[in-house]
Amino acid sequence: MLKDTLLYLAQNQRMRDFVVHNRATRSVSRRFVAGETLEDAILTTRKLNQRGNPVALDFLGENVFQESEAHEATRNYIAALNLIKQTGTNANISIKLTALGLDISKELCEENLDAILTQAREYGIFVCIDMEASNYTGQTVAMALKARQKFEQVGTVIQSYLYRSKDDIEELIKQNVRVRIVKGAYKEPPSVAFPNKKDVDDSYIEIMKMLLSRGNFPAIATHDERILGLARMYVRDHGIAPDTFEFQMLYGIRNDLQSKLVKEGFNVRVYVPYGAQWYPYLMRRMAERPANLMFVVSGSMRG
Ligand code: FDA
Repeated sequence: MLKDTLLYLAQNQRMRDFVVHNRATRSVSRRFVAGETLEDAILTTRKLNQRGNPVALDFLGENVFQESEAHEATRNYIAALNLIKQTGTNANISIKLTALGLDISKELCEENLDAILTQAREYGIFVCIDMEASNYTGQTVAMALKARQKFEQVGTVIQSYLYRSKDDIEELIKQNVRVRIVKGAYKEPPSVAFPNKKDVDDSYIEIMKMLLSRGNFPAIATHDERILGLARMYVRDHGIAPDTFEFQMLYGIRNDLQSKLVKEGFNVRVYVPYGAQWYPYLMRRMAERPANLMFVVSGSMRG
């Protein structure tokens, strides 16, 4: 119930204005967001690299409705590629198709995606296409498959809460597309997604095993200790080398677990969001763990 309310508020303009303009909530958001600028994000990346974690940089922003905004987002993603290259930091990038203009036109979005992937190819930097709400899933999978025909270093994300995901995974594995498996962070109806957590987790485990056995350098993205335990057991029992996949976790969440896995010899990439458009991202993190809400509320009262 609280989760649904938070996911609803993630789309609410009045709430967004209140949270974004409140000095205290802005400062509290720093627990989950590296900062508002690319330079903030690179600073955080350096620290994480020193700790042994490669990074996935996520320039925050989604659902643009003006062509100029889509071009600006494209420039921002390319700026991230440039700075990663210049600074020699160990990072790749994650992008969102709705930021590249998917709601405006497929052609505009593909053109912008092509520009990013061309630059990324020149630098040898991997680009992951994040997965958004279910009304974009079909287009996202199709664009990732199409882009993969031209570019090697592109992948996408599959959400275990969707009924369709096992079919998508089969196709992506067949085409050798790199996949990050996640549970899914959006509010979805029972007509498209498992309503019960147990089914989402079971689906996650099944897809994770498919990817570990047959995928191309998959990313197992979760903070779920039980699933992480099962993953470690699975790779040990099947002789899967730790350098053939990576774990991924979000910035500011379960740092203890991130360090523990690195000490055990696993790759653990940290997903680092940055930028001024942090409100919907922050609300999705609240929805995943409403206890985080207390952290924000107490922070805003102190402020
Ligand atoms: P689950 O929600 O079951 O949580 C397991 C445990 O992890 C909790 O008990 C708690 O201890 C800890 N935990 C989880 N979330 C927390 C939080 N917010 N704060 C504090 N503790 C928390 N989704 C999507 O739809 N599209 C995408 O492209 C991506 N991309 C992505 C990249 C990466 C690197 C990660 C790790 C996640 C995503 N996600 C995503 C988000 C994903 O779908 C999911 O919402 C979160 O990872 C939370 O789910 P868990 O797998 O951690 O399990």
